[in-house]
Amino acid sequence: MNEEKYNFSFEVYNSIDELQPADAALVSEARKITGNAYAPYSNFNVGAIAQLKNGKTVTGTNQENASYPVGICAERVLLSATGSLFPNAVIDTIAISYDNKNGKSNHPISPCGICRQSLLEYEERVKQPIRLILSGLEGKIYIIKKASQLLPLSFGGDDLK
Ligand code: THU
Repeated sequence: MNEEKYNFSFEVYNSIDELQPADAALVSEARKITGNAYAPYSNFNVGAIAQLKNGKTVTGTNQENASYPVGICAERVLLSATGSLFPNAVIDTIAISYDNKNGKSNHPISPCGICRQSLLEYEERVKQPIRLILSGLEGKIYIIKKASQLLPLSFGGDDLK
């Protein structure tokens, strides 16, 4: 029997003030666009913005539905929009934030399982890592170098070959 180890480290910042200016600008924008979310059922507004290598930015917010499972997370709205508007564009960084209307928004949130799978697919599609900046409206901020680090032992396109 062998035991394998998975190591994962990420950066922790105390606030937006500690970020590089370009990252701080993305976080500010992610926070702002939480206002574009359609989340009347959860009251949990999520905003995501992608900085593409081609210089463009694309945004996404969660879009809910009275039939709850139909709702889509901000991250997958963003990835779908990016893939549609700029096919195969390399995404350098995605900043994600949220505004919890029923509580506090003072710690980072991390993408849900389905979104992790979608992020992995996008990385594999364009063969480039996606950097993630995770935050609330205030408080600590996490930076993750490669989105697929959030999904160890993942299932991907290569497994279907
Ligand atoms: N949600 C996102 O959009 N992204 C996340 O990373 C976590 C959750 C949405 C889904 C749902 O509309 C609401 O937040 C509450 O789960």
